Amino acid sequence: MIIGIPKEIKNNESRVGMTPGGVFELTKKKHSVFIQSTAGEGSGFPDKLYTEVGAVIVDSIEEVYAKSDMIVKVKEPIAYEYPLIKSNQLLFTYFHFASSQTLTEAMIKSNSVCIAYETVEDEDGTLPLLTPMSEVAGRMAIQQGAKYLEKPIKGRGVLLGGVPGVPPGKVLILGAGVVGVQAAKMAAGLGAHVTIMDINMKRLRYVNDVMPSHVTTEFSSEYNIRKHIQTHDLVVGGVLVKGGKAPKLITRDMLKLMRPGTVVVDVAVDQGGCFETTKATTHEDPIYIIDDVVHYCVANMPGAVPYTSTLALTNVTLPYVLKLANTGWEAACEADATLAKGLNIVHGEIVYDGIAEAFA
Ligand SMILES: NC(=O)c1ccc[n+]([C@@H]2O[C@H](COP(=O)([O-])OP(=O)(O)OC[C@H]3O[C@@H](n4cnc5c(N)ncnc54)[C@H](O)[C@@H]3O)[C@@H](O)[C@H]2O)c1
Repeated sequence: MIIGIPKEIKNNESRVGMTPGGVFELTKKKHSVFIQSTAGEGSGFPDKLYTEVGAVIVDSIEEVYAKSDMIVKVKEPIAYEYPLIKSNQLLFTYFHFASSQTLTEAMIKSNSVCIAYETVEDEDGTLPLLTPMSEVAGRMAIQQGAKYLEKPIKGRGVLLGGVPGVPPGKVLILGAGVVGVQAAKMAAGLGAHVTIMDINMKRLRYVNDVMPSHVTTEFSSEYNIRKHIQTHDLVVGGVLVKGGKAPKLITRDMLKLMRPGTVVVDVAVDQGGCFETTKATTHEDPIYIIDDVVHYCVANMPGAVPYTSTLALTNVTLPYVLKLANTGWEAACEADATLAKGLNIVHGEIVYDGIAEAFA
């Protein structure tokens, strides 16, 4: 099969759809790979690394789309790319169709086959192509939170690890899923005292089993949240209600309970956020302050660490890219129910219930 990897042109997106290591596996199987010049540069992979493993570098995004049977990328195509997509072309990337009618209509019109990373779903309901980005965001939440706790960046002036003779900072994490557990791990590693909350007792039991004793689990309730935000320095929002908006666990009036300079990092911002005062920010302008509480609400946190994120993404997408390339999408989806869940739009028809419902 001929596989094309365009350079991401969405604002501030430096990740790339495939690492040189991934291309190596494809060319080993005699597939052809066309990659747009400098597509990997933002992630630390110069063209040379791709040519060394047999990829052909092409100058324009138009050429990548024109030459390829399958496009592998990171973000959904943007308007400039719509007319480049060929009828019957296979597109394997994040789409998030339900949030864009324009994109959905454009892909229907293109007569392409769209397999969305975000709906590839294992038997147990986990989303294997979303997990690595949650891992990145969970770990980053503590790195960012620790930074904004510094006084010159408007925080309380607390060092999360404390020092001998001074107690460590306190981190409250809402949600003990992928984001929450990774955040807890990083915060605990820094020496902070961590409280992690969930409504799922199985998750709390798991966290209690695997985390050190300075990570405390607590059932998520308004009463408990109101109590803890008065004493914690950093609050991380990592809740998810499948198929729904994030619940507003911290309302505007609750900010007054927090001490000035408390930092909140709402990782769940992409699902509307779990703080009433959340509004999406960007890496250029990541924070804002309400009632002396510093809010960090960047919607694409992994975009700030493209090297790590690209490697983490390719680790999980590559096995599917290989299946799709080796047998074609129909056989690959027939043989693999997890991958088949990723089918969103096929030759002009929406085949994923959630998207059909989103647009009635
Ligand atoms: N901002 C970013 O760049 C970025 C990156 C990756 C993921 N995310 C988002 O982070 C959020 C979390 O993702 P995840 O992969 O950890 O999801 P997950 O499904 O692994 O975990 C979510 C957890 O929230 C818990 N939860 C639900 N309601 C709750 C409540 N009322 N109180 C406490 N916990 C509750 C669930 O029981 C679950 O354990 C999602 O909204 C995801 O889209 C954002």
